[in-house]
Amino acid sequence: MFRRLQHCHNVEDLRLLAKQRLPGPIFHYIDGAADDEVTYRRNTSAFEDCDLVPNVLAGVEEVDMSVEVLGQRLAMPLFCSPTALQRLFHKDGERAVARAAEKFGTYFGVSALGTVSLAEIGDMISTPKMFQFYFHKDRGLNDAMVERAQAAGFDALALTVDTITGGNRERDLYTGFTSPPRLTLKSLLSFAMHPGWARDYFFGEAFELAELKDFVSKGSNVAVSVGDYFAEMLDQSMDWSDAEALRAKWGGPFCLKGIMSVSDARKAVDIGADAIMVSNHGGRQLDGSRSPFDQIAEIADAVGHHIDIICDGGIRRGSHVLKALAAGAKACSGGRLYLYALAAAGQPGVEKALGNLRAEIERDMKLMGVTRLDQLNRDMLRYRQ
Ligand code: GLV
Repeated sequence: MFRRLQHCHNVEDLRLLAKQRLPGPIFHYIDGAADDEVTYRRNTSAFEDCDLVPNVLAGVEEVDMSVEVLGQRLAMPLFCSPTALQRLFHKDGERAVARAAEKFGTYFGVSALGTVSLAEIGDMISTPKMFQFYFHKDRGLNDAMVERAQAAGFDALALTVDTITGGNRERDLYTGFTSPPRLTLKSLLSFAMHPGWARDYFFGEAFELAELKDFVSKGSNVAVSVGDYFAEMLDQSMDWSDAEALRAKWGGPFCLKGIMSVSDARKAVDIGADAIMVSNHGGRQLDGSRSPFDQIAEIADAVGHHIDIICDGGIRRGSHVLKALAAGAKACSGGRLYLYALAAAGQPGVEKALGNLRAEIERDMKLMGVTRLDQLNRDMLRYRQ
């Protein structure tokens, strides 16, 4: 079936549109995850094991879904997690996502593996921006990235802590996906079957990893899989003292992305982090690990008064956001939920994705009988056995 953006009413519709537009290796890089993809599926199905218990007759004409996260007021409790390689999915890449996030007044996360410079994003939007940091072996590169994010006026730094080595992404092994894409007979055939994408990629602005290219040729000029990049380039000796030193060097709102256990959440508080993203990297790293939603309640009970808890992963519906917030998260974030949309249609696609989800959050708040997010609580959840 040929799909159109205006008929995309949910994340799955946008996923199918992305699948239509993208060459197979690129689509499966976004869509795939580690090993048997059990955790990837669980990230969303966890929400289905928990039901909402609504209240009624609550006078819900006016709904306020704004929330403060990492010191910034967001107009909605869902934001765009940092994700890699965006200009590979659509020629406008991070530019499209940045402008869409600005329209919706929510955080935009830029990855260290991003394809548009921090300086350009900093000049482009005035809404909250988060830079997602990979701790490289090359300390000169690490220092330069912090300094560039500071100079570009980024509001928060998020250190990713769940990529100490590469996940086993078997779809990428089957398709041969690399950054930049390796040109083989098979990949060229797939590009030829997606001429819109191929025209933009081969005749548009040259692909590069904007913040890394001056330090590392891998990823920009030398083809590498993302799993191999993590395994080869990131510093596996990274520990809590490195995270603490990075927080001090950054000096602003600081977040750890990829915390899953209560004990690590407590350590995050101890080193002075302002937020944690409870995340398993979209199921792309350790398959068999628990879903972020399943971990929210116990982490919130332990550290919810000391740190912002962000539920990152598996969100496909507004009701998922409400469940995560009722369990104790401050806000939610996601990657694929807007990446499919970016690939499908650029900025209008991302706006459609965020618009659909915002409408669902508002509708579901009304149906739950709440007018502010802090009215959501654990009494409104029942877990199935
Ligand atoms: C990048 O962060 C990836 O998971 O591929």
